[in-house]
Formats: sequence, C-alpha cells, structure tokens
Amino acid sequence: MYRRLDAERLPHHVAIIMDGNGRWAGKRSLKRFLGHQQGAEAVQYVVETASRIGLPWLTLYAFSLENNLKRPRAEVNFLMRLLRTYLSNNVQRMNDNNVRIRYVGRTAELPEEVRERMAWAAEATRGNTGTTLTLALNYGGRSELTDAFRGLCAEVQREGRRLDDIDETDIHRHLYTAHMPDPDLLIRTSGEMRISNFLLWQIAYTEIFVTNRLWPDFRGIHMLEAIEDYQRRERRYGGLNDGSESDDVESLPANQLVAGR
Ligand code: IPE
Ligand code: IPE
Ligand code: MG
Repeated sequence: MYRRLDAERLPHHVAIIMDGNGRWAGKRSLKRFLGHQQGAEAVQYVVETASRIGLPWLTLYAFSLENNLKRPRAEVNFLMRLLRTYLSNNVQRMNDNNVRIRYVGRTAELPEEVRERMAWAAEATRGNTGTTLTLALNYGGRSELTDAFRGLCAEVQREGRRLDDIDETDIHRHLYTAHMPDPDLLIRTSGEMRISNFLLWQIAYTEIFVTNRLWPDFRGIHMLEAIEDYQRRERRYGGLNDGSESDDVESLPANQLVAGR
C-alpha cells in the first residue's frame, strides 16, 4: 500500500474523465491519434494500481456520446480500433490482476466488431472478484437519464403504480450504474473544470479532483495522490461537521445576527 494512504478510508468508487490526449499530441507536434494511443497505454497502469490497492470500482470515461456525434469520422473510427486493440491486448493482464470489465453507455450503437470484442472481454473476465473496471462508451449522462426515465415510465404504466410512490431509488434502479455505489472521487485530467455530461445523477456528492496533467502522462501514482487529497476532505452531504454544534439562533438578539454589528 502507498504509505501515505489511510487504508481505513479508501474510496469505494473512483471515476475518471480521461481528457487531454489531443493536447498531449499537439504539444509534441504529433497527430491527435498518437495522443489517443498513448492514452490507451496509460489506462492499464491506472487499472493495475486500482487493483493493487483493492479499489472495488473504477469507472473510466473513454468515449462520450458527444464525441461520437461531433468528432470527425476518421478520429471516431480510430478510437473504435484502439478500443478493440486495448481489449485484445489487456484481457490477460486483467485476469492476472483479478479485474472484471464492464461497460456503461449506449453501447448497442457501437460497431458490431467492437461490441463483439467488448462482450468477449466481459465474458473472459466475468469471474474476477477484484476491481470492476467500467468503461463508459458512447456514454452521456443526459441520455442515461433519458433511458432511465423511459424504463421507469414503462414500468409505471405496466404496473399501474401511483406517481406519488416514485422515489429516488426507482430512478437509481433504472440507471446503467444501478449495480454500483456512487463515485466517492471524480478525477479529471487536463485542467478542464467541467463535467462534460459524465454521471450527472451519480456525482451529487462526489468529491472532485482536477489535475492539469494530461491523460497520457497520468499514472497510478497520480491516482494515489488524488486519493490522498480526497482523504483530507470532509464530506458533509449537506449536514454539519462532526462535533460542531448548531448556533442557537433563536435565542440571539437580532443585532448579533449580522457580523460586525
Ligand atoms: C480525451 O482526449 C479522449 C477522448 C475524449 C476520446 P481528447 O481527445 O478530448 O483530448 P483534448 O481534450 O483534445 O486534449
Ligand atoms: C470528456 O472529454 C469525454 C471523455 C473524456 C471521454 P471531452 O474532451 O469530450 O470534453 P469537452 O468537449 O472538453 O467538454
Ligand atoms: Mg478533450
């Protein structure tokens, strides 16, 4: 174990927005696809570190629905090829590290040869009991919610449930991530301070860590540093600090309610 981590307070679920492949290549006057290739290399280091520290859930944003719609076909096709190669080359290492692979997103819309390889990798790693690596592919947070509401509405119609009885757990049940805990920590590389449509429902109380490091330069040690930072945070979920007492506002004279008066 990385000596600076508190083994008692490890996150259960780390999610990463793997951004900056294009900028990594641009800084070296290389084509974007070489950045993606280096980015794919970085993935396995991080997965193996997750497995070593016993992280149960690691979710990686690899390809968004918007990437699919808005990037040039040649880049999208390259990313699809890279994904197939990544899976073919790394299933053995996943098995060596007790890693199970899964996917979230509108994966049915991906090319058939990609879907076949994805199914093969999931099947080949199905029995592993260490880290579950979830790749978000053709994933969008809003489309996930749309799919969830469709599923829930169909269920409500079918079962004739009262709308007043629907609660947050019903929505949770219909998400792609219904089987996982919400992320404790969300890491984004390349310095962008945005969510880019990732896990919108699930990150309600997730701690966010943004690093300027570009994804192809990101290694397991950098994830451990992010976890170390996470362990210094105080999560409140809208409540108060442990041990802090609420001011008895009711008993204060009105002129003491405003600082400096
Ligand atoms: C992240 O790198 C990988 C994908 C979104 C597929 P980018 O391709 O977004 O790299 P930048 O943001 O242009 O540097
Ligand atoms: C987010 O990165 C998606 C992935 C990392 C797969 P983008 O590069 O697509 O995000 P924006 O366009 O900068 O918001
Ligand atoms: Mg980007």
